Amino acid sequence: MPILSVQAARDPSAIGAQATVRGWVRTRRDSKGGFSFVEVNDGSCLANLQVIAGEDLANYADEVKHLTAGCSVSVTGVVKESGGKGQATELAAAELTVHGWAEGDEYPLQKKRHTLEKLREWAHLRPRTNTMGAVMRVRNRISRSIHDFFQEDGFLWVHTPIITASDCEGAGQMFRVSTLDPENPPRDKEGRVDFGRDFFHRPSYLTVSGQLEGEIYATALGKVYTFGPTFRAENSNTSRHLAEFWMVEPEVAFNDLTDNMDLAERFLKRIVADVLRDCGEDMAFFQERIDPEVMPRLEKITAGAFERLPYTEAVTLLEQSGEKFEFPVSWGADLQAEHERWLTEKHFGSPVILYDYPSGIKPFYMHVNDDGKTVRAMDVLAPGVGEIIGGSQREARLDVLKARMAEQGLSEADYWWYLDLRRFGTVPHAGFGLGLERMVQFTTGMANIRDVIPFPRTPGSAEF
Ligand code: 4AD
Ligand code: MG
Repeated sequence: MPILSVQAARDPSAIGAQATVRGWVRTRRDSKGGFSFVEVNDGSCLANLQVIAGEDLANYADEVKHLTAGCSVSVTGVVKESGGKGQATELAAAELTVHGWAEGDEYPLQKKRHTLEKLREWAHLRPRTNTMGAVMRVRNRISRSIHDFFQEDGFLWVHTPIITASDCEGAGQMFRVSTLDPENPPRDKEGRVDFGRDFFHRPSYLTVSGQLEGEIYATALGKVYTFGPTFRAENSNTSRHLAEFWMVEPEVAFNDLTDNMDLAERFLKRIVADVLRDCGEDMAFFQERIDPEVMPRLEKITAGAFERLPYTEAVTLLEQSGEKFEFPVSWGADLQAEHERWLTEKHFGSPVILYDYPSGIKPFYMHVNDDGKTVRAMDVLAPGVGEIIGGSQREARLDVLKARMAEQGLSEADYWWYLDLRRFGTVPHAGFGLGLERMVQFTTGMANIRDVIPFPRTPGSAEF
């Protein structure tokens, strides 16, 4: 017997087919006529398949009439045209097997709707909800688009390491990986912890970014990208920060900052177009249930060009806005979420690419502009989420790079290999990082980043 997904069985083309559908019961409703409607979901789409199970089934009285939300079943029968609302088909069951019962009273996902906060406590069951199912399908679509976009354009996917010794962002937000006994580490004569006896013979950390390794491969293979988990020991409990998140980082030899902005813009437009084309049912759900602004925001992404604005001009706009911000705006300071929101939501009503940031708030590797005060950095800010992309043209000049490292107290000995790239066939090059979860938030309208990743890692929370 062919096995059909719920999505396939709901398609009118399946009418007349004999098939088996497998999934989890959402609801059961008994009719007076000696049959029951059993709604089955298998995660292939948002909607359920309506199964008609009647008393001609041998287990109708003993089993079918005891089905509750959460039970797992296989149903074999014929797909028929349905007169029901919101569905073209239904499955007339000839056989229904119960694989697992769901202790009705104790199953947390009963008809009652739970808050997203509550659902986080059931990270093992929440993928069975409509919201998480839709989030995960869109997240998957975005991940596929990311690969499609780069692969179709001749980029190579480079697997950069998770364990590393270098702090790419220089923000000191690295999780230490150590096999040293924290209670009793070996020490040298001066009493300092002796990393010579640790597993890697040096302090090592979970990566905050694959960029530096990406640069190594871009300056040999031209166009590369990394896509994988990234870690930040950032003790901030916000709706936009995770301690473990996924980042995609393209790096391109011979690109300058303008090329980098063009790439980022094309990339975001492609992802959004794919989601709008392929995730219609889930997007309608987000629009109706989660955020009425989500579709208009996405349509703006595909419609026109992104605003591009030097940081300095953005500061001037903010200063002249007449808005009372909690944090004052001043040239040289990082923009706060409220400033990003004002620019994207109030002023422009669209995504904005800010560029040429003050060197003092950006890492050592960014190309220094001729003014000596700004670097060729760019951030893409999106309405509703704020920064979704951070990137830059990299400093390709050995002397300038060394001076920047000295300024930031970085040792040349630790980055000898990075300096080598500028010594041997240096080229202009540029890249950026897109936070996958921020992109999923932007695309779905989900307010909290904890609800767009299967198992969120945040301060004080790493269960499951
Ligand atoms: O701006 P960031 O820190 O840039 C870099 O790491 C560069 N090395 C990237 C590069 O040029 N290759 O981070 C890039 C993006 C941010 O714009 C944001 O979307 C996401 O990564 N991000 C986070 N997402 C979730 N939780 C966190 N704690 C994040 N920190 C950064
Ligand atoms: Mg950033």
